[in-house]
Amino acid sequence: MKSKELPRITASHLVKSIDLNHHGTLFAGRMAEWLVEVGFITARAALACKPGELVCVRLHGMDFRASINKGETLVLEGCTAHVGRSSITIYVEAYALRPAMPRIISTDGFVTLVHISEGRAIPHGLSITPPEEPQARELWDHVVEERQHQRRKSG
Ligand SMILES: CC(C)(COP(=O)(O)OP(=O)(O)OC[C@H]1O[C@@H](n2cnc3c(N)ncnc32)[C@H](O)[C@@H]1OP(=O)(O)O)[C@@H](O)C(=O)NCCC(=O)NCCS
Repeated sequence: MKSKELPRITASHLVKSIDLNHHGTLFAGRMAEWLVEVGFITARAALACKPGELVCVRLHGMDFRASINKGETLVLEGCTAHVGRSSITIYVEAYALRPAMPRIISTDGFVTLVHISEGRAIPHGLSITPPEEPQARELWDHVVEERQHQRRKSG
C-alpha cells in the first residue's frame, strides 16, 4: 500500500478563554493536546485498530510559528509520515481558519504511536513502501533520521 492511500484526519476547535495562555493567545499545552489527539485518531484510522491497541510514545518536532487568538477556529490535519513494524508516525499541521486569506501554518509536529497488546509492542501489520512524492518523502526521511539519532543516543 502507498502512504497517500491512507486516511487523513481533519479536526477543528473553536479557541475559547479556557484554551488561552497568560498572553491571551492559544496555550502551547492545549495545542499539544489537540495535536496528539489528531495524531491518535489518524493512526487509528490508518491501522483500523481499537483505541486500547494504540499508545503514544513520542511528540516531536513541534514548532509554534504564529499565535492563534481567542475566537478563531483552529484546523488540524493529520497524515501518515512513516510506518514501522509496530510504530506509526503521524505528521500534523495546524492553521487558523481565515476565509479569503492565505493559509498560514501556525504549528506542526509529529506524533509517534505504537501498536500494543498486553502492554507490549506487537506488529500492526500495515506495510507501506517509502513514498516517492517529494513532500511525503521528506517527512518519511525526517522520521527515519530521527530514529537513527535516537538509537545512537541510547547506544
Ligand atoms: C509502547 C511500549 C509498550 C513499547 O515498548 P516495547 O514493547 O519494549 O517496544 P520497543 O521499545 O521494542 O518499541 C516498539 C516500536 O516503537 C518504537 N518506539 C518506542 N519508543 C519510541 C520513542 N520514544 N520514539 C519513537 N519510537 C519509539 C520503536 O522504534 C519500535 O518501532 P518499530 O516496531 O516500528 O520498529 C513502551 O514504550 C511504553 O509502555 N511506553 C509508555 C507509553 C505511554 O504510557 N504513553 C502515554 C503517554 S502519557
